[in-house]
Amino acid sequence: MSLQVDNIHSYYGKSHILQGVSLNVPEGSVVTLLGRNGAGKSTTLKSIAGVIAPKAGSIRLQSRDITGQPAHKIAAMGVCLVPEHRGIFKLLTVEENLKLGARRQSPWQLEDIYRIFPRLKERRRNGGGQLSGGEQQMLAIGRALMNHPRVLMLDEPVEGLAPVIVEEIVAQIKLIKQAGVTILLVEQNLEVCTQLADHHFIIEQGAIVYEGTNAAFLADDAIKDRYLGVGV
Ligand SMILES: Nc1ncnc2c1ncn2[C@@H]1O[C@H](COP(=O)(O)OP(=O)(O)OP(=O)(O)O)[C@@H](O)[C@H]1O
Ligand SMILES: [Mg+2]
Repeated sequence: MSLQVDNIHSYYGKSHILQGVSLNVPEGSVVTLLGRNGAGKSTTLKSIAGVIAPKAGSIRLQSRDITGQPAHKIAAMGVCLVPEHRGIFKLLTVEENLKLGARRQSPWQLEDIYRIFPRLKERRRNGGGQLSGGEQQMLAIGRALMNHPRVLMLDEPVEGLAPVIVEEIVAQIKLIKQAGVTILLVEQNLEVCTQLADHHFIIEQGAIVYEGTNAAFLADDAIKDRYLGVGV
């Protein structure tokens, strides 16, 4: 399913955080939302997921308007957010965490998740709180897949992880894309972003300041320097 965000404004109390964010995620593509700390990336994902309700603008899934719907309804339509701090239940086992996301009609069932992430199978009886950061991320992605996502939003999925784990997760995200899932990715690791994405958006102070194809973005060092502060 495609996702269209049109000119949304979101607030925390009186703080006006998103000041007209528009972005388009075509069906089956990987799109990144980049930007510095505090720019509004997580707030954008939360607004799409219905965790916070935008006060203006619209969000459409395929052609259906989902603006202002509660989070559980948006999730039931197939929009799945894997949040920044992963939302793992520490006192439940790995398998119990996975089963919480399960839906009978999902193409990803427990055994599929264990095939994709063999580490989770090894640790199936461990508590969520006993996992490494990388294993927690795998668990969060696995649980999202069991929920049959049509649009998967990943908030900093490789932050703080060792390079070998990052590679493993990137490889699995590629396979998830190949399975036809539309992906909106927030990530600070530009190498990961450019390996995965078709298109990039950059947000600054709650507004989109750049968009471009992966090829255009790769070729444009000035953009990376100006908006992301990565001297290249
Ligand atoms: N629950 C909240 N209540 C009030 N203000 C918030 C809340 N969460 C975030 N903010 C503020 O909203 C702005 C955008 O935050 P957001 O979390 O969307 O940034 P981000 O781009 O995801 O940053 P980071 O890269 O650090 O994760 C920041 O100024 C932040 O301080
Ligand atoms: Mg964030």
